[in-house]
Amino acid sequence: MTPRSRADAVRHLLRDDDLSPTEQAEVLDLALQLKARPYDTKSLAGPQTVATIYDKPTVRTQVSFAAGIAELGGHPMLVEGSLAGIGVRESVADIARILGRQASLIVWRTFHQSWLEELAAYSGVPVVNALTDDFHPCQLLADLLTIREHKGQLAGLSVTFVGDGACNMGNSWVLAGATAGMHVTISAPPGFEPAAEHLRTAASIAATTGGSITLEADPMIAVQDADIVVTDTWVSMGKEDESRARRAAFAAYQVDSALVSWAKPDAIVLHCLPAYRGKEITAEVLDGPQSVVWDEAENRRHAQKAVMTWLMSKLDRDQSLPEGP
Ligand code: NVA
Repeated sequence: MTPRSRADAVRHLLRDDDLSPTEQAEVLDLALQLKARPYDTKSLAGPQTVATIYDKPTVRTQVSFAAGIAELGGHPMLVEGSLAGIGVRESVADIARILGRQASLIVWRTFHQSWLEELAAYSGVPVVNALTDDFHPCQLLADLLTIREHKGQLAGLSVTFVGDGACNMGNSWVLAGATAGMHVTISAPPGFEPAAEHLRTAASIAATTGGSITLEADPMIAVQDADIVVTDTWVSMGKEDESRARRAAFAAYQVDSALVSWAKPDAIVLHCLPAYRGKEITAEVLDGPQSVVWDEAENRRHAQKAVMTWLMSKLDRDQSLPEGP
């Protein structure tokens, strides 16, 4: 079966490097505009329906997409993931063709990146990755937006991700950070680095943007002079059976005040949440003055509104992006 003919012309956000450096900057500029004037842009007027499907737990993603879609004049349709059984009860390709006839855009949080890619191939409408086992590009756009707000720039800044570099956030950080021209250091225990293919892709992107990708297993060395320190849970959704082993493997990678003191004095601390105080991060740091996690959580809405608006604008050459403030 071949995908619908429009499929090749439709843009998606399936992984961080789906956006070129120029496009990433364009989306972030748009996010700042939308944040400044949240109700002025109606890129989903109609209201057009956005199908949102969550096969893994969610709070921030579900509410920020629902609120953002409504603000854009659209209708957020929640497709109950466990009832739909996409890829299990009915094939991904069939579901894609069905949803593509009902919705203008599809947002999916699921396990396999390959499923998301299959959905995009057959849907005929833009598809947004709301987290897979491999990537979390919406979170990265919110993170980059937060850094731009607090630091005024992205290119040339040093960011250190401490913890499970092999999870979706580690993979996304190397790709999105390289795209933004940042110096990304991953500090993870051996065996928990981002996938080799993503490291290679990120390094080749960084070669064009002036950024860099470094692996440094010693967190104290890795954090030295960082502008931004980032962490994430040691036990990603789906890895709960490995909790005990992971707590042991990551014990030396807790982001506490002593570790953060090696970063620049004005460094900021990010965490995509949910956070487990006393595990990957101490309460003192998460709730402390260098933490920007609540801005980061709010920015999910603004970044995702920008992605949806940008993707819809790519469908129709006559439909231009909103003018700046
Ligand atoms: N790495 C985490 C991110 C949560 C937003 C997970 O996949 O559970």
